[in-house]
Amino acid sequence: MPGPAASEPDPWWKTGVLYQIYPRSFADSDGDGVGDLPGIIDHLDHLVWLGIDGVWLSPVTVSPNADWGYDVADFTAIQPDLGTAEDFDRLVSEARRRGLRVLMDLVPNHTSVEHPWFVDSRSSRAARHRSWYVWADPAPGGGPPNNWVSSFGGSAWTLDDTTGQYYLHNHLVEQPDLNWWNEEVRQAFDEIMAYWLDRGVSGFRIDVCNIIIKDALLRDNPPATESDPLDVQLFGQRPVYNANRPEVHEVIRRWRALVDRYPDAMLVGETPVEPIAALARYYGNGNDELHLAFDFPFISAPLAADEMRAIVEDVERELPAAGWPVWTGSNHDMSRFASRWAAGDPARTRVALVILLCLRGTPVLYQGDEIGQPDTELTQADLRDPLGVLYFPAYAGRDGMRTPMQWRDAPGAGFTAPGVRPWLPFGDLSCNVEDQRSDPDSMLSLARDLLAWRKGSTDLQTGPYRALEATPDTWAWRRGRRVTVAAAMSDGPGSVPGVEGTIRIATDRSRQGQVVNGTLELGGWEAVVVEADDG
Ligand code: NOJ
Repeated sequence: MPGPAASEPDPWWKTGVLYQIYPRSFADSDGDGVGDLPGIIDHLDHLVWLGIDGVWLSPVTVSPNADWGYDVADFTAIQPDLGTAEDFDRLVSEARRRGLRVLMDLVPNHTSVEHPWFVDSRSSRAARHRSWYVWADPAPGGGPPNNWVSSFGGSAWTLDDTTGQYYLHNHLVEQPDLNWWNEEVRQAFDEIMAYWLDRGVSGFRIDVCNIIIKDALLRDNPPATESDPLDVQLFGQRPVYNANRPEVHEVIRRWRALVDRYPDAMLVGETPVEPIAALARYYGNGNDELHLAFDFPFISAPLAADEMRAIVEDVERELPAAGWPVWTGSNHDMSRFASRWAAGDPARTRVALVILLCLRGTPVLYQGDEIGQPDTELTQADLRDPLGVLYFPAYAGRDGMRTPMQWRDAPGAGFTAPGVRPWLPFGDLSCNVEDQRSDPDSMLSLARDLLAWRKGSTDLQTGPYRALEATPDTWAWRRGRRVTVAAAMSDGPGSVPGVEGTIRIATDRSRQGQVVNGTLELGGWEAVVVEADDG
């Protein structure tokens, strides 16, 4: 289906801002210590007030929670401790009523071992769903069929005694990979997507969508070399045959055609792919694959002018003309940007926020980013993420970025009832929504004001990006005709020559309204948005 014609208005996901909700940790309405759908409904007004256009819900479907929702046992039913189907419908309609769209998290690469498809598949070699998963005989002489390693560590194969074959799992043993060469699997997911779209969702974030198809011959991955990125070296092999297979694009085009039947629906892919030229392929021709493909090189970069600028300019060069970038600094896997990029420093956190919200592309905030919530340090006894449980203390896992949303500095944190023990401990509650709402100098006020200003600025929403000359460690760019964004990304001052206009938004709020006439001067870790006078 063709993309929008030039005269059509830009779609909502292009001009808007997305917000990731991790439902277990957003708001608990029934006092069991676990966030839930009614809790999200209760806080939709916060998102509207903040200026958000769409929310991505991490999985809310039935899961035994080996991987906290990412091991799905029923793709079309709601996980009971998160709510009911009626709650979900109410969430979608309450969101719509407020002009907010809801995106589901779709996990097509694997299911839970408890999914009825897998229960059947493993029951016998002749089972109805046997070929829905990736089964293979042991290697000659025994052992796994090939050398593939799971992204969670160890062999990606587990021997199933009942039938004497191995099944593939690119994550936990409890997450068997589906066989996407099988047309029935494709059809089943068409139905799942249509089910939710018909229920009113506006699209999907698609979990590890780059790895769903595996080499049909199950060839060994080649060894990593010193020239490979560090994560590849750590795995000891290049993911040549168990990820990024060319045939994945056929499947994505099929999903896109399906989603295009629904006005306003979109797909944002989890695409941990590098280099950027490879990531760009997930946009197809710009109108026939993903609407947005998450940029892991950017989220993994240090908060440094040269490194970030290089990635952004690579994206500017490599994406197809009709492709649209997406920028995020935090998620439930990668740690929060207030910690990872900014090391807990409020000035850096504010600069990072301005960068995220002012690049050409759709920003995605993770719950808590708007208050600069840092990761929470946890003890071993607190850990719930299987990766933390397995690898502590070498790696504490992902729980630190999944602790509850900090609504108030009070017992229960506004997340749950006072006295209730949350499923993960609270972080430092001095960082909270309530206090920041009433402080005009807070991170929350900065985020809200910037989002409000962005809504009124076509340049900032959709204007082209053009880099500007600046002193070292300062990153400056023009958006469209009239907007200049500049960020000093070190302790020392920076300057940008040739800037004319008025500072509209600044991390140092006292600078707003200042007129710039020639050289824009910045203090260390300071960012501003300048608008040139009309004319
Ligand atoms: C990516 C998800 O974001 C992560 O949380 C999950 O563990 C893996 N995919 C497996 O589904």
